[in-house]
Amino acid sequence: MKKIVVIGILFALPIMIFNSCNSSSANTVAKEETKDESYITIDTSKIPNDKFGESVRYGRELMLRTAYYIGPNGIKGKYLGNKMNCTNCHQDAGTKPYAFNLMSSHDNYPQYRGREDKVLTLAERVNNCVMRPHSGKPLPLDSDEMVAFLSYFKWISKFVPKDSLFKGAKNLKIEFPAVAASPERGKVLFTENCARCHGNEGEGKFNEDKSGYVYPPLWGKYAYQPGSSMHRVIKQAQWLKGNMPFDKVTVGKPYLTDAQALDIAAYVNDDSVHTRPNPKTLDYPDPKAKAIDYAHAPFIDPFSEKQHRLGPFKPIIEYWKKQGWEAIY
Ligand code: HEC
Ligand code: HEC
Repeated sequence: MKKIVVIGILFALPIMIFNSCNSSSANTVAKEETKDESYITIDTSKIPNDKFGESVRYGRELMLRTAYYIGPNGIKGKYLGNKMNCTNCHQDAGTKPYAFNLMSSHDNYPQYRGREDKVLTLAERVNNCVMRPHSGKPLPLDSDEMVAFLSYFKWISKFVPKDSLFKGAKNLKIEFPAVAASPERGKVLFTENCARCHGNEGEGKFNEDKSGYVYPPLWGKYAYQPGSSMHRVIKQAQWLKGNMPFDKVTVGKPYLTDAQALDIAAYVNDDSVHTRPNPKTLDYPDPKAKAIDYAHAPFIDPFSEKQHRLGPFKPIIEYWKKQGWEAIY
């Protein structure tokens, strides 16, 4: 018993230190991470056996087999423009730690979003992902599918604390090197660490009946759009650190260094050598609400588009701090 308590404190310390110097997380309510050392798991056998439970189950299915239901050839409607599944990024249907975890989302909306400069409901936020990473058209707010997504998010939110951040609620943090991220170094690292699954052309690999991917695409016309947060180099690096290479990372135990994750994200998202659908992007009406690694002008600071894309990020963060603004990334 004692041993567990000691480990708990050791785990909690660095997390608390990180949190106090960087409360950056874009648009969510500021919360302290709990000192509880364990990861939260959900037990799907506890989904109730009633109408609500049916909707929760369908919502979970939609997270896992999105394209099968609502993809370009979806059996329930043709909404998505590609065959990625939500779980490709929000792994384990949104419950994996450090993988854009969605277990607090139901509690955190409606929420102000800098992107639109307005308050969005959770349903509208779901449609942002349907439209950007999935190049789709929005689900009707009263469709069975949207209701199912929301039912599922409500149900998984029961397992998490309401007044503190649980372990893995946010992605792992990245320490910024003094130098800019390098797509050239990233390309070499990509060949070594990523191409064996995602392909040399980042094209991914379909499953047998082509209803989805075994390895989802990283660029090309079926990958996420440049307006997606996954296209931001810092945002992607934080996620890569916690999740890729898929076969080398276990929860909370990164394989890539922070600098490698940034270099690889810089290469994957280098649109001078890669193509993506819909290069048009939706801009932040208030540039002060723009994430510093969202590399689309105009900017409120003197740094170039290239530096917003690749860094070095420290000078940008310091500049923002000096102005009394909070740098989001
Ligand atoms: C290519 C990766 C990718 C795919 C695929 C994807 N998302 Fe997202 N999603 C993101 C990223 C990145 C964010 C922003 C996370 C952040 O800022 O920490 C996000 C945020 C969200 C949020 C807001 C979470 C919060 O609490 O603020 C919801 C809800 C969401 N996604 C639902 C979905 C659903 C439902 C699908 C499938 C239809 C989906 N996403 C597909 C990458 C993806
Ligand atoms: C062993 C195979 C494997 C390797 C190696 C691997 N991945 Fe993945 N990757 C996956 C799988 C599988 C998923 C989908 C995860 C899921 O659905 O739970 C994924 C998802 C992704 C996604 C989110 C979905 C998308 O297509 O946008 C990105 C980004 C990504 N990987 C990047 C990388 C990068 C960069 C590397 C190298 C550092 C890498 N992966 C190495 C198997 C792999």
